[in-house]
Amino acid sequence: MNINEYIELINKKLDEYMPEDKFPQDIFKAMKYTVTLPGKRIRPIMCMESCRIFGGNIEDAIPTACAIEMLHAQTLIHDDLPCMDNDDYRRGKPTNHKVFGEANAVLAGDALISFAPQIILKYSKHIGAEKLVKIMEEYFEYAGAYGVIAGQVADIEAEKNWKNNIFGLKPEELLDFIHTHKTADLFRLPLRCGAIIAGASDEDLEKISELAQILGVAFQISDDILDVTSTFEEMGKTIGKDENADKLTYVALYGLEESKCKLTCLLDKSCDMINGFKVQSEPLLEIISGIKKRVCIK
Ligand code: IPE
Ligand code: IPE
Ligand code: MG
Ligand code: MG
Ligand code: MG
Repeated sequence: MNINEYIELINKKLDEYMPEDKFPQDIFKAMKYTVTLPGKRIRPIMCMESCRIFGGNIEDAIPTACAIEMLHAQTLIHDDLPCMDNDDYRRGKPTNHKVFGEANAVLAGDALISFAPQIILKYSKHIGAEKLVKIMEEYFEYAGAYGVIAGQVADIEAEKNWKNNIFGLKPEELLDFIHTHKTADLFRLPLRCGAIIAGASDEDLEKISELAQILGVAFQISDDILDVTSTFEEMGKTIGKDENADKLTYVALYGLEESKCKLTCLLDKSCDMINGFKVQSEPLLEIISGIKKRVCIK
């Protein structure tokens, strides 16, 4: 399947999985709103590709892939709240709280955290209890306080305060912690779950986790760069917010040029790793060329 075919399939399944007519409708509408806005869908694609690379059937990965996209949407809804990054636009449209109000946006995010694993359990019984338990372990590890939430807490704490060695960490160590958890953990989750569904070995899980770390950090560096260099039309979100909020980003710490160098290096490393798998993955390579294209590097 190529990227566009993947996106079409994922969008169709997300629409199918997300009810909007259940009572109370406000919450189901708010949940469905952000999930079904046009995102790049890179996490579910990663999940299905990882499954295929390790010899699994991609059909088996669809519910998990879509559930991870729902979790991702949750992180976006909460990330955009006034108490977090206070953003008015996401995926080219007004943010969840702008449309449904803050209380419903908080609740929609909360609801998605438990709705997502429900979807996995409801539609993946045929993969067997052993794999399902492993997937749940991964989900709760990376969705919670050991994972993306740890990264978000550090990101917020670092705002306007990152030069002060908070948590006893130097800024470069803190930045690494933030990127590892707020972004790479949500790459680790789909890549590892896809591999688990395929029945991959522990050694292969290690390998795919390493790719997730490198590619996840690279992706967040690209997002940090694009917050400076891109446009609203391209990103579907307000640009220039990181500097205004005095966020600890790659660009803030290392400057634009060094950030681009580091990004190129990590993306090249990711390509080498992907090319080293037994099964070739054009979609994963396309995700990397998409990042390069957006950031305008060769
Ligand atoms: C946005 O992720 C959040 C970050 C980790 C920077 P994406 O750039 O993948 O957002 P969508 O899903 O395409 O909207
Ligand atoms: C957010 O990072 C990562 C998560 C949502 C977990 P950012 O705050 O940089 O993402 P954008 O720029 O708002 O998409
Ligand atoms: Mg943020
Ligand atoms: Mg943000
Ligand atoms: Mg950003």
